[in-house]
Amino acid sequence: MSQTLEAGATARARAHSNIALVKYWGKNDAVLNTPAVGSISITLDALYTDTRVTFRAGLATDELWLNGCRHDATKASRVLDLVRYSRGATLCAIVESTNNFPTGAGLASSASGFAALAVAATGAAGLTPTARELSILARHGSGSAARSIFGGFAEMHAGSAADGLDSYAEQLLPGADWPLAILVAITAHGAKPINSTVGMGATAVSSPFYLAWLATAPTDLADMRAAIAAFDFVRVGELAEYNCLKLHALMLTTRPALIYWNAATVAVMHAVRDLRASGIAAYFTIDAGPQVKVLCLPTDASRVHAALSTVGGVLEVRQSALGPDAYRLD
Ligand code: DP6
Repeated sequence: MSQTLEAGATARARAHSNIALVKYWGKNDAVLNTPAVGSISITLDALYTDTRVTFRAGLATDELWLNGCRHDATKASRVLDLVRYSRGATLCAIVESTNNFPTGAGLASSASGFAALAVAATGAAGLTPTARELSILARHGSGSAARSIFGGFAEMHAGSAADGLDSYAEQLLPGADWPLAILVAITAHGAKPINSTVGMGATAVSSPFYLAWLATAPTDLADMRAAIAAFDFVRVGELAEYNCLKLHALMLTTRPALIYWNAATVAVMHAVRDLRASGIAAYFTIDAGPQVKVLCLPTDASRVHAALSTVGGVLEVRQSALGPDAYRLD
């Protein structure tokens, strides 16, 4: 690069949260943050993070401000370090992020957050990365963030290269090609007790099912890829629910156990099964938190929304369609 990175260089970006239909849990390499398994997700238009990155002179460290409060910037600095490295720059940055949904409660705020950071930081630095490069950059902040660079359906490849350059996500299908509805049943607003990074590290060393999880992931991914290619909603839903429960079997058999569910989480799972028994194709998936995301066809969304809203302990139900790629706001 001929120009130096100027103090005051700034850019804003928006990235949407995503939920995995085939989940990532476990790492190949903790430093590169490469996942031990691939994953497939959908991006949600209703949940997003807006992030501004400003490189400043005179800062001793990067600063991360999330919804107006200062947070530990260690993971953000991993992403910013790579951007600084490509510009041969040393300036620290202020990262100002806002989520339009509860943070750290299993709604994938790290996914949207680090995807928005990757787009804003490269934008502020005057770089023009490809979508794949952005995905790799976002992965250094959070594995699931690699998928939030893309709208619609995305697949993350675990990869095996020593430099992590084959560990990135790509789009399987734009959201407009297959409109689906996602109802997010929010059952708690607090941050989760054990974050995903710590939780998956504990699972890898203590769950007797971890090796089975690794061994069966390629089949789940191939089946999900085929179900999406065939626009087979029932198959997508069944596989998503199965893979979610397999993940939670791993979590429950971690020592100490990772129990992310509360009573309302379980009640929503039963409500979804009751909906299916009454003829509505609805399927749940749950990440490392107590919220339940329910997949259905747009024509069934209002009935599913009404059913979930009456479940005891459900605080709020948010409806979402599939979201777009991450993008610059300025
Ligand atoms: C259960 O992407 O938050 O949501 O890479 O350590 O930041 P780190 O983990 P993170 O883990 C996501 C776990 C999950 C499943 C998924 O999104 O695939």
